[in-house]
Amino acid sequence: MTLGEAGQGGLTIEGLTKTFRPKSGPVFALDGVDMVVEPGEFVTLIGPSGCGKSTVFNIVAGLEAFDSGHIRLDGAPNHDRLGGIAYMFQKDLLFPWRTVMGNAVLGLEMDGLSRRDARERIGPYLERFGLAEFADAYPDQLSGGMRQRVAFLRTMVQERSIMLLDEPFGALDSYTRTNLQQWLMGVWEEIRTTVLFITHDVAEAVYLSDRVYVMTPRPGRIQAVLDIELPRPRERGIEITDAFLRLERNLKAELHLHGTDDHDG
Ligand SMILES: Nc1ncnc2c1ncn2[C@@H]1O[C@H](COP(=O)(O)OP(=O)(O)O)[C@@H](O)[C@H]1O
Ligand SMILES: [Mg+2]
Repeated sequence: MTLGEAGQGGLTIEGLTKTFRPKSGPVFALDGVDMVVEPGEFVTLIGPSGCGKSTVFNIVAGLEAFDSGHIRLDGAPNHDRLGGIAYMFQKDLLFPWRTVMGNAVLGLEMDGLSRRDARERIGPYLERFGLAEFADAYPDQLSGGMRQRVAFLRTMVQERSIMLLDEPFGALDSYTRTNLQQWLMGVWEEIRTTVLFITHDVAEAVYLSDRVYVMTPRPGRIQAVLDIELPRPRERGIEITDAFLRLERNLKAELHLHGTDDHDG
């Protein structure tokens, strides 16, 4: 693998290793993970439950320490990655006592914006996110898909050069999930920010990505890299084309090399 000098919004991960050391005994989580994400790319990490996907994200976001390896953002080694990264957690819950707007402004408020400025920044997006009529609604009045859109909006408006999205559609029914994939593609085609995405859904990975990194079971390593050379924008219906099905089969074959199922935790 060649490790290029990534520019604005590029990310290079080299030889990342990590062992957790809880009292119950060490957990060897990552065993030399290598990844390259070019600026503006949509790159997906797929692998069995517990292989270390979220751990990679936590380390990239600076929330978790690592044992060895290198992470470079924008081509330069740096210890201040956080300023360049927006992170939507696997369980990105909304605060039930805050409205849609109140939840959406949270990230911006944490960035130091006044609530008023934050609301102004959010306002124009509500329509695009199908939330215009729900700004004052509370999370329990929303569908699962809408809640995920609020969480995504909160992440996106931080305008970082890289977005980490950890299984944003994992808990949704397949109909809602399909709609949201299509919707996310539309938004991403507009903003073209660098996205690092986690899923355990093979079709979702193929539909969304420029490239897919397949991880081995724990300790996680990159077992295969698949380029998804499908034209963009990707219309719905592409998932029944020969090219798509072939990629889906190749990806499934890589995952099943290790006898993994498609379930995730
Ligand atoms: N803070 C932690 N302490 C101990 N073990 C952990 C911790 N976080 C994750 N692990 C373990 O590391 C492995 C990888 O976890 P994770 O990155 O969440 O996997 P994935 O996201 O691929 O499902 C799992 O076995 C998990 O139990
Ligand atoms: Mg995870």
